[in-house]
Amino acid sequence: MAKHKIGWLPGDGIGIEVCAAARVVLDRLGFDAQYVEGDIGWECWRQEGDAFPQRTVDLLKRVDAAMFGAITSKPVKAAEAELIPELQGKGLVYRSPIVRMRQLFDLYVCLRPCKAYPGNPINFKEGIDLVVFRENTEDLYAGVEFNPVPQELADTLGHLSKSFAPFQKLPADEYAISCKINTRRGSERIARAAFEFARAHGRKKVTIVHKANVVRATDGLFLEAARSVAKEFLDIQVNDANIDAICMWLLKNPFDYDVLVAPNLYGDIISDLCAQMVGGLGFGCSGNIGAHLAVFEPTHGSAPKYAGQNKVNPLATILAAKMMLDWLGESDMAVRLEEAVVAVIAEGNVRTYDMGGANTTMEMAEAVASKL
Ligand SMILES: NC(=O)c1ccc[n+]([C@@H]2O[C@H](COP(=O)([O-])OP(=O)(O)OC[C@H]3O[C@@H](n4cnc5c(N)ncnc54)[C@H](O)[C@@H]3O)[C@@H](O)[C@H]2O)c1
Repeated sequence: MAKHKIGWLPGDGIGIEVCAAARVVLDRLGFDAQYVEGDIGWECWRQEGDAFPQRTVDLLKRVDAAMFGAITSKPVKAAEAELIPELQGKGLVYRSPIVRMRQLFDLYVCLRPCKAYPGNPINFKEGIDLVVFRENTEDLYAGVEFNPVPQELADTLGHLSKSFAPFQKLPADEYAISCKINTRRGSERIARAAFEFARAHGRKKVTIVHKANVVRATDGLFLEAARSVAKEFLDIQVNDANIDAICMWLLKNPFDYDVLVAPNLYGDIISDLCAQMVGGLGFGCSGNIGAHLAVFEPTHGSAPKYAGQNKVNPLATILAAKMMLDWLGESDMAVRLEEAVVAVIAEGNVRTYDMGGANTTMEMAEAVASKL
């Protein structure tokens, strides 16, 4: 029997190619795994009306960890229009499978390391080494949304909040409401994950990202909860910054930051910003981590314009596989894999188009594998 059981969910578009590339590398490493392939994404939506079918949910209950490629998603109306004729008009509503997966399996940590590997020609600056902890299940991604807004809700909000007055007389379909919901427990546990990581990895500082001066209720609670957790980690410096200001400061002085922790939406924003500083989507890797399951993925999407061309950079997915190895306790393999990536980037002989080269997805995977 294999040592690890791994869910394998390539999804759509380039997700399929980058997962195949990561598999070449994992196989060359001698990673002892049984891979269980699962369906997810656009074709599941079109043919079955569910982008994350129950059989894939069940599969994830039976594995130690999973790799996920990328999926295509579209706004609600465009998604409905692409359903097969038998499923049209049945009231099916598209919801992102990865957001659902994070909530269903309580994958509350979104961990996004952003390291500028030496010699990568598209590094913003050499030496950047940031780690983003994004809360992954709450906030504006809670899925509590109204469009049109029910009268009952409008009446209640009008009754409870003076600030709602300018909206109260609007026709129901002339505005929409998305609820930002943050809990003390959710805020504390993501903060604790960030501080524990900082301590375990010799990191010096954690920056709490928020907008508590304006979004006082939810971000105020997030900041207060994170600050209270910080008191348990007196060996780690702590500071906080507004989401708008930090986008500017991160670009100006990236070396002033180390570990960053943020609610869901701000974490989404800063992790893309940080990923761009270390080479962009071809390098952005991510772990969705809960108490019982972790799912690793590149942060990019299905990039339809490059699908099937064997052209995109697989390093984000290969680095996501490295994160999976770390999480599974295969630290030795994780170190070897990262060293192989470092060597390929530093040599500069094999580069995909985003790095200014002309090598294919598989050539990059083979180059990394050849170093193992
Ligand atoms: N987690 C996910 O699965 C995820 C994330 C983002 C977007 N999406 C979905 O993906 C689809 C396409 O979205 P998009 O075009 O806005 O974003 P995308 O990330 O798929 O691609 C945007 C552009 O980034 C570049 N790029 C992406 N991955 C790359 C790689 N590995 N190597 C080199 N260059 C790369 C390409 O130029 C590409 O056209 C949409 O349906 C979107 O909803 C899914």
